[in-house]
Amino acid sequence: MDSHQHRSTVSGPQAARHPLDPLTAAEVDRARAVLDEAGRLTSTTRFACVLPVEPAKDAVATFSRGDAVEREVLAVLLDTATGESAEAIVSVTRGTVESWTVLRTTEHPYGQPAYLFEEYALAEELVKADPEWRAAMERRGIEDPDRAYCGPLAPGYFGRADEVGRRIIRSLTFQRVHEDDSPWAHPVEGLIVHIDLTQRRVIRVEDHGDVPVPSAHGNYDAAATGEARATLKPIEILQPEGPSFTVDGSQVTWENWSFRVGFNAREGLVLNTVTFRDGDEDRPVLHRASVPEMVVPYGDTSPTRFWISYFDAGEYLLGKNGNSLTLGCDCLGVIHYFDGVVADDHGNPVTIPQAICMHEEDYGILWKHTDLAGRTEVRRSRRLVISSFSTIGNYDYGFFWYLYLDGTVALEAKATGIVFAGAGHPGTTNPHAPEIAPGVFAPVHQHLFCARLDVAVDGDDNTLAEVDVIGVATGEDNPHGNAFTWQVTPIRTESEAARLADGSRSRVWEVASSHRRNAVGKPTAYHLVPEGRSTLLAQPDSSVSSRARFATKHLWATAFDPSERFPAGDYPNAHAGGAGIPAWREQNRSLDGTDIVLWHVFGPTHVPRPEDWPIMPVDYSGFAFKPYGFLDRNPALDLPVGTRGAGACAESCGASCACGHHSSSSTSASHQEKDHHDH
Ligand code: CO
Repeated sequence: MDSHQHRSTVSGPQAARHPLDPLTAAEVDRARAVLDEAGRLTSTTRFACVLPVEPAKDAVATFSRGDAVEREVLAVLLDTATGESAEAIVSVTRGTVESWTVLRTTEHPYGQPAYLFEEYALAEELVKADPEWRAAMERRGIEDPDRAYCGPLAPGYFGRADEVGRRIIRSLTFQRVHEDDSPWAHPVEGLIVHIDLTQRRVIRVEDHGDVPVPSAHGNYDAAATGEARATLKPIEILQPEGPSFTVDGSQVTWENWSFRVGFNAREGLVLNTVTFRDGDEDRPVLHRASVPEMVVPYGDTSPTRFWISYFDAGEYLLGKNGNSLTLGCDCLGVIHYFDGVVADDHGNPVTIPQAICMHEEDYGILWKHTDLAGRTEVRRSRRLVISSFSTIGNYDYGFFWYLYLDGTVALEAKATGIVFAGAGHPGTTNPHAPEIAPGVFAPVHQHLFCARLDVAVDGDDNTLAEVDVIGVATGEDNPHGNAFTWQVTPIRTESEAARLADGSRSRVWEVASSHRRNAVGKPTAYHLVPEGRSTLLAQPDSSVSSRARFATKHLWATAFDPSERFPAGDYPNAHAGGAGIPAWREQNRSLDGTDIVLWHVFGPTHVPRPEDWPIMPVDYSGFAFKPYGFLDRNPALDLPVGTRGAGACAESCGASCACGHHSSSSTSASHQEKDHHDH
């Protein structure tokens, strides 16, 4: 890069206009150039991760349109020749390296930056050049070992002398029958290659015998599945007057909601400064919301997989692996796309076109009543969807944030892609891995997502409580035995804030304002409504329990600290454990009337089934964050009738839509019958 470019300032359409704007390509470029000018880059320096340094909250609060934007970038650098890693903070505004911190990756509790894409290629190269691996493939009668796919996997942490404090990757082998064949259908069971990426060598090859490689293909493209069915009639989503949202840079306004869209290499999609308009006031709900980590631990005892526990954000980077989304396939309707900017291994900006999709969806009925005179009032629900997808090896994860007209925010995580399978002898039983296709055994595993909700319910001064609904013992307080009531347990400190969901008590967690009261004199509040499925099922003395301690409870809460971003710590790769939430909460800070961050764990526990093969239908999980006395009444009373916005019920929907003007039960029934005849 020439010196002219080194001095170029960030300006024009590529410049950030607001402190919360995602990184621009020009800023990534500039950060790299500043490090280069400062002599920090050598031919073996690589960029493991480039992230925006989040602005201080008061800087966001006091920012006015047109103010100068101070921007800093965190670059995590790896010298591939020495294995030394460092964090550099670069001011792209001033063109200076603000700090340089060498990571203590060789000292307990260790930890490594996320993998480089080039390390996956290096691992495959090393495996395929290894004579032991080639002998193992030959012994299995695999004809073309060079066509194999070598799946690169983070090693976890098991205290092995030749791995501790080093940059290690393991490789599992999958055969491909031809170039475009899905490798996941042909696992080469029992063959594990351990690689030191810095020394660029195979440490050892484990070979646990000769289970046959399943031969049936697992391809799912049109060529493999044959002619598509012709029975589905078209569905077109028409929004003839365009969408109801407005976009100004990263700022989005839709109905009562306003927020800023963010995106970064590690978390992918982020929502910032989410507010809900109530009268003339935009009231804060969330300062920031994202899914900064997830863990996929496997429950299989086999030597091939007992050690697997992917941390898809911290080890592999959700944003860097973000998909480019397509109209008509990923998203339907009138779409607004946001690009995502990340850095490649060399620190150069990479733009992921259409990384975030935003659109409106009709969502059925929002409210309805037929009164005593037979008059019906009904209004349709609509939601704004902000979504992204990331592909990490075999799995694909969608992150779908939903904003509803009634003040609810929800997140749905979609897990799809190819289940990770091993091979076994057909017809045998494995208590940790059901046979999902002949000879294909897919181990049980969990997908445990951790959402970070920097809540701001009417401001930063919030309180937290657990709310259960419980029956009351028959007696003086419950003479007829029918009574139940709600029970509020304040959560005042971090030590109290390690909670499990309890569906038998309809448990929710309440975030309330310390200062604001609603129409009935109660603190304004939101409820976090969990699904409450399994938390981490690994034993407390397991390696993954230490490393993914966050996944052992459904809810944690901490006092806000800008450095506390990642629930398994900054560098979970090959980390011995204990970082992140378990370390922070030792401070046992107060949560009473302060700036609170919730960490909510959710997600499916997956016992794979034949229907998940050869590609898995989406498995949904998530949570809702619902107003509970935040508003004084239903905020959607003023919705228009029908789907056409202001005005009356759409002609095309007819009387059977129960749009409210001419229906009684008898006319509805006759219209429905008429519809049947018409069609
Ligand atoms: Co799964």
